[in-house]
Amino acid sequence: MKIDILTLFPRMFDHIFEESIIKRAQEKNKVTIVIHDIRDFATNKHKKVDDYAFGGGKGMVLMPDPVYQAIEAVRTKDSLVIMMTPQGKVYHQKLAYEFSQRKHLILLCGHYEGFDERIRKFVDLEISVGDYVLTGGEIPSMIIVDSVVRLLDGVIQKDSHQNDSFQHHLLDYPVYTKPVNFMGMKVPDVLLSGHHANIEKWRLEESKKKTEQRRPDLLEKGDTNEL
Ligand SMILES: C[S@@+](CC[C@H](N)C(=O)[O-])C[C@H]1O[C@@H](n2cnc3c(N)ncnc32)[C@H](O)[C@@H]1O
Repeated sequence: MKIDILTLFPRMFDHIFEESIIKRAQEKNKVTIVIHDIRDFATNKHKKVDDYAFGGGKGMVLMPDPVYQAIEAVRTKDSLVIMMTPQGKVYHQKLAYEFSQRKHLILLCGHYEGFDERIRKFVDLEISVGDYVLTGGEIPSMIIVDSVVRLLDGVIQKDSHQNDSFQHHLLDYPVYTKPVNFMGMKVPDVLLSGHHANIEKWRLEESKKKTEQRRPDLLEKGDTNEL
């Protein structure tokens, strides 16, 4: 997979993809991530990329031409162009799976007051990471990269993400490690029993219990009969 990120603040991405699982995914050639400065695509003399909003109001608006030029410079027939915007479809795990099946993602980060409305014509999808407003699309695009890359084949073990929260409309089951007794709180006996069928049964029940308590809305969405 290739991911191109279009931003006015490329330095915000320094180090973020150079650690842990995302770093290893790049080393194993599972993904190539390229950061582009939208300013490099401005054709005017002063490399200006924003201007005041027609009609007045505070804040600067991203001019359509540099953004359009940046998109077209990296677009291929396989690209999915995704605009980061609080006005978009709210991101969730199923979308992360869908994106992980694509060959090429272009993530478009806004800033200031956002994009000139006319740039919407050149994007395939608008994504919001939640009902709150951030200063820019850089953190949302980091969220998308992180959540998608870990799903690519060979990046982490498949059964690890297949049991994650939101699979089968459930939250993940409780997990424990050493010591067996921490300040009087003991690891449930079943997990020490070595009986795999009982462990699976316990995990499914705990997952359902947790989801009922914390996110009953997920249970309404469908099948929860297996992990
Ligand atoms: C300050 S915001 C602009 C918000 C815009 N005035 C509005 O209310 O819809 C600047 C940029 O941050 C990004 N952004 C802010 N909140 C976001 C969110 N919840 N999800 C995705 N992107 C977001 C977008 O790229 C947006 O263009």
